[in-house]
Amino acid sequence: MEPKQRMCVVGASGKLGRYLVGHALDRGYEVVGVCREQSVPKLADFEGRITVLPGATDDRDVIARAVSGCDAVLTVLVPWGRNHYATGTAQAVLDHAHPGARLVFSCGWHITRDGKDVYSRKFRLYAAVFGRLAKLTRVVDVDDQVEACRRIFASDTRWTVVRGSDLEEGDSQGLPVWSRHVGDPILASNLTRRVDYARFMVEAVANDALVHEAPAVVGRLTPSALAHAGRIAQ
Ligand SMILES: NC(=O)c1ccc[n+]([C@@H]2O[C@H](COP(=O)([O-])OP(=O)(O)OC[C@H]3O[C@@H](n4cnc5c(N)ncnc54)[C@H](OP(=O)(O)O)[C@@H]3O)[C@@H](O)[C@H]2O)c1
Repeated sequence: MEPKQRMCVVGASGKLGRYLVGHALDRGYEVVGVCREQSVPKLADFEGRITVLPGATDDRDVIARAVSGCDAVLTVLVPWGRNHYATGTAQAVLDHAHPGARLVFSCGWHITRDGKDVYSRKFRLYAAVFGRLAKLTRVVDVDDQVEACRRIFASDTRWTVVRGSDLEEGDSQGLPVWSRHVGDPILASNLTRRVDYARFMVEAVANDALVHEAPAVVGRLTPSALAHAGRIAQ
């Protein structure tokens, strides 16, 4: 029998992280989760089925231990505070994961890899207001996630950055569809079930076509995805 593949989920206790852990277990991975000490109880449902390493996700020692021996690392990139939390998290994963490991990171549509994304006025307005509020309150640092992704894009590891649309809770609608650029008609609905966003990240691990890609995803049953599927079928 083949030994189980080992997957690390960095940021395992959040809403996305818990879906990632669930999908990983369903697919037979051995799972190591990293989350803040105070959030360990949020993983109670998985007790006995995963190994949890408590700690900040930008703690290089914690990450080094967590990713040791892992075939894949899924990272929930969150730009909390003003101390480069997301950048520190990404850098720790890039530095400590073993060279052949598949690395999959989450972020939003606002991250652009090649500058060819086209954003609607509504999206730009929301991003500007959110960014300003975030800066004022010092709770979130949008530029931190931008820098984290810049470093990932420049790295020669086997990365994928999955850019999430707006997210909602609800039952799975299946694997989201994706496109290289925000602004492509297939993405117009800008909505994905969080459970499916997580599924896309977990399935990206085994999909070599997504290495060095930054897919922007949208729910497969959204009107824009269905319209696209209809056009292809014609
Ligand atoms: N929300 C959206 O609509 C949306 C849209 C597109 C993309 N995304 C992307 O999806 C990913 C998950 O985002 P989410 O909004 O769905 O939230 P989420 O899954 O609940 O994740 C939030 C994460 O932030 C951590 N966190 C919360 N407060 C913190 C603090 N003060 N210091 C350090 N860590 C803290 C949480 O850990 P604890 O469990 O320890 O609190 C959790 O791991 C992100 O990469 C985001 O960019 C989200």
